[in-house]
Amino acid sequence: MTALADQPSRLRPPGPSPWSAPALLARMARNRLDVMRSVSARYGDAVRLPLGPKTLYFFNHPDHAKHVLAENPGNYHKGIGLVHARRTLGDGLLTSEGELWRKQRKTIQPVFQARRIARQAGAIAEEAVGLADRLHTMVGRDEPVDIRHEMTDLTLGVLGRTLLDTDLGEFGGIGDAFEAVQDQAIFEMMSLGAVPTWVPLPRQRRFRRARAELQDVVDQLVARRRAAGGIAERDDVVSRLIGSTSEETDPQVARQRMRDELVTLLLAGHETTASTLTWAFHLLDRHHDVWERVHAEAVEVLGDRTPVYEDLHRLRYTAMVVDEVMRLYPPVWLLPRIAQGDDVVGGYHVPAGADLVLCPYTLHRHPEFWAHPDRFDPDRFDPDRSTDRPRYAYIPFGAGPRFCVGNNLGLMEAVFVIACVARRLRMSVQPGYRLVPEPMLTLRVRGGLPMRVHEA
Ligand code: HEM
Repeated sequence: MTALADQPSRLRPPGPSPWSAPALLARMARNRLDVMRSVSARYGDAVRLPLGPKTLYFFNHPDHAKHVLAENPGNYHKGIGLVHARRTLGDGLLTSEGELWRKQRKTIQPVFQARRIARQAGAIAEEAVGLADRLHTMVGRDEPVDIRHEMTDLTLGVLGRTLLDTDLGEFGGIGDAFEAVQDQAIFEMMSLGAVPTWVPLPRQRRFRRARAELQDVVDQLVARRRAAGGIAERDDVVSRLIGSTSEETDPQVARQRMRDELVTLLLAGHETTASTLTWAFHLLDRHHDVWERVHAEAVEVLGDRTPVYEDLHRLRYTAMVVDEVMRLYPPVWLLPRIAQGDDVVGGYHVPAGADLVLCPYTLHRHPEFWAHPDRFDPDRFDPDRSTDRPRYAYIPFGAGPRFCVGNNLGLMEAVFVIACVARRLRMSVQPGYRLVPEPMLTLRVRGGLPMRVHEA
């Protein structure tokens, strides 16, 4: 007979009984963040969650994140939520797998290298200054401004300028189209795909309209670029994609790949940064001491001028604030995967085909690695402070080969926007407004964030 100790790979993680599935699903629909936190507090770093027809393997230790994302990433494809998002994003960089993903990443990655993004610093800074100017016109108004909406417009504007060389404002409301797409993806995720897509629910209709609208925007962008010529010389995202898809013999396939790739970049690139900024302004309002330090740094480093690339390293405290905002409210709060073959994670058996999630939201608040995990304390990211925190305890941009391609762009944008706004303005949440986190594909503030704007 084989001793149990010889077969650790057959061990199953602990978790609630399958009988609790209906109650668990109902709690998930109401408050997913709360469920993830409470089950990890109760059962530990590895939990099996029975969710009706499915079982979810939830791993919540830095070593687990390291194994799944960086040591054995080939065994894991993108999972729940992202699978549903594939209806919009098709086989874009975020959702594709295998050889196709490798080829796409090779095409797109060079555009996002740090030195290339550094050259975009001027454009990003101008957008940040423009936003602060716009907000300044709202000082003293009775009507609050929806900061989530402002941040969405801003981040779409930055993507348009930096990646597409286009003013996306011309196309009007594409932020709303992305909203409809997210709404549908999260609905499909929560209903585990049980409602067929042909059912004429208003949400499905909205989704279909939104998808067509986004694809139309992309088609127009590409058509304009082709008409303008000089594609090879530009070497930006659009021209690289035109180059790589020209190998396709079927023009329909080429067009679809272009749509998938650009809609993916627009979605992945704007919601994440917009949500970081929205949470940041909320937290700065709640922590006046932190706002004062950010304000003082911005005044000292920038004075009255528009930021330049070198300021990124001088705005050291502001960068720490951004890190801490993404610790507490990681825009990508869940990393879903599907195991392709059997594996062992943290000593537990994960069967082929299993749905598995890592959850940056709970990992970033894991009490073993973060003192006072719910406290907003940017100083914990002070590079001069020594820390024995494991590297994979903090993964706002993921890790391993699927690490976020746009992290340099997102970080620069967040630091410049916070500095440019805080040097002139202070913003306070509308009194009485109850702020509720909404874990969609990204972790958002439900219903927007009404704030009043004041002189600093
Ligand atoms: C604060 C801002 C951002 C955060 C927190 C963030 C977070 C992430 C995370 C966690 C992943 C990994 C997802 C996974 O492994 O399943 C990811 C992937 C990705 N991100 Fe970001 N992101 C940000 C900004 C951006 C920007 C500005 C862009 C593009 C313009 C972008 C484009 C992408 C793409 C295309 C992928 C897929 C990469 C691949 O699978 O090869 N992101 N992002």
